[in-house]
This record gives sequence, C-alpha cells and structure tokens, in this order.
Amino acid sequence: MKPAILVARAVFPQVLERLHQYFEVESNQDDHIFTPAELASRLQGKQGALTTASARINEDLLQQVSGLKMVANMAVGYDNIDLAACHAHGVMASNTPDVLNETTADFGWALMMAAARRITEAEHWLREGKWTKWRYDYFLGPDLHGATLGIIGMGRIGQAIARRSMGFNMKVLYHNRSRLSPEQELAANHAVYTGKEELLRQADHVILVLPYSAASHHAIGAAELGMMKRTATLTNLARGGIVDDVALIAALKVKQIASAGLDVFENEPKFHPEFLTLDNVVLTPHIASASEKTRLAMAQCAADNLIAGLTGDMPPNLLTL
Ligand code: DGY
Repeated sequence: MKPAILVARAVFPQVLERLHQYFEVESNQDDHIFTPAELASRLQGKQGALTTASARINEDLLQQVSGLKMVANMAVGYDNIDLAACHAHGVMASNTPDVLNETTADFGWALMMAAARRITEAEHWLREGKWTKWRYDYFLGPDLHGATLGIIGMGRIGQAIARRSMGFNMKVLYHNRSRLSPEQELAANHAVYTGKEELLRQADHVILVLPYSAASHHAIGAAELGMMKRTATLTNLARGGIVDDVALIAALKVKQIASAGLDVFENEPKFHPEFLTLDNVVLTPHIASASEKTRLAMAQCAADNLIAGLTGDMPPNLLTL
C-alpha cells in the first residue's frame, strides 16, 4: 500500500500528479488555510506532509499526530518548523534551498529600486490624474549606482544580491553570523564583513535576507533605524518578525529613513494598517520567489524530498538541528 500524505496547500497540478505516483494523496487545491486543530486532524494517519510557511509544525501539533515521518516545507525558510520537536518525535523535515536564490535576488533589487526611486508612489500619483507638468523636484530619491549596499544575512541569496551590485558600481558591506571565505567575498563584489552597527551607519541601502529565529526577532527596531542615514532605504525579503513594524512606521513617518520595501510581514497576510497611509513604503505580498520557473522548482524540490524520505532514501535537503 502507498503511504498516505497531506499536501497542505494548493500546489502545481503536475507536482500533485507526480506525488500521486508514490502516495495516497489528500490534497487541498481549494487552498483553505488549516487552523492548527484542522492541520492536526488532517495529519492523522499520514506519513508525510508537503507544507508551506503557513503551517506551524511544533510540539503541540506533533503531540496530536501519530505516524508522521516527514514534513517537506516548500520554502527555504523554515521558522514555521520546530526542528527540536521534530527530532524528538522522529519526524524528518526538509526545505527548498538554492532553487530560489537568483529569483529572490532579482526581486530584492526590484523592491529596493522601487523604494529608492519611488516608483509605486509616482505611479499612484500619475494614476490619480495629478500629473499636469514636469518639475525638477518631483519624486527625488537616492541613487543606487555608486552607493553603499548593506546586506544583513549573507547566505546564498545575500551573495546573489551582492553579485548584482557590480553592475551598479556599488560598495558592499555585509553582516552575517560568520565571515565568508576570501573567494566568496571577491565573488560578492568584494563584500566587506562589518559589524551590524557600522553597516547600518554607513549603508545607503540596507537589505535583510537573514533567517528568522528568536535571535533575529526585531533585529531592526527603533535603535537600529536611528543609526541609519536619513537618505537610506530598508528592504526586507526575509521574514516580517525581523523588523519592529511600529518602530519602522514611526521612522518612515518622520523620514528618519527615506523609504522601505517590504515583501514580508510579521502576521502575514495581516499587516499593520498604518503602512497603507505612508507614501514612502512599497508593500508586496511575499512574492520574492514568485517566478513561474522558481515556484515550480520549489514545489518539485519539496516533492523530491518527500519522495526520498518516505521511500527509504536520504532527503536531499534534510534539515538538521
Ligand atoms: C521562502 O522560501 O522562505 C520564501 O519566503 C517563501 O516562503
């Protein structure tokens, strides 16, 4: 008999078809977001699950389900999964690294440029019929070329962002848990390893691509925003909880920093309503990896991991404690 799995969110039909070859699949193509209790009940009797960031896999849930062997998360980030609890319950977990690096880096640049050059603000103004003349001082913003880029979190996505800065003749500072090798720094546009405070003080554009954890919760708050240049931008591609939204809103209101680009929010899809009242923030609904090719590759990668894990092979992207 085929093992039973739950595909907890809607997914590409071709990926679902592939999973059907190996498993008894319970799918969720109408994309209902399960409550924790619903998720626990759907997971009863399942050996595997294909999840996204919206599913909390924690001690509470794992205590309620039996027989679960593997959770394959369709995301590189896995802050929704308590790895220690998985380990304690003998549940394997995997993520989808690498396949999204370049697409996410492309989007990081788009968001950072939109925030710096006020693209969405200008477009809204134009659509509102306010464009009656050209003026020398309409929508002035900071340059990107020749500026200093500060990358917090210099993993594979951070390095892909840094590589793109070569074409903009930028200086790159980075802050990370550990320093890159000299070869990696060279490839990342001669990136310079810097303390967080120094980076915040010197960078013209700060971009966040670090993993979310208790240690990075509100890593950017009032104090950090206060260190940034008044002309600087802040772009968050990582997880919403890394930024203290209340502090960011206050900083944007008084132009403590020039602007921000946010693709992620602490309680998404909910977000602080005051963001909607501000012109100097660009808001997008967690789409940094959303190119057709990359989202399909992420789904295939999650499926590969689940198939390997439940058929006796080593999942290629098994997460370890
Ligand atoms: C990721 O892969 O972590 C993206 O943020 C999608 O959740």
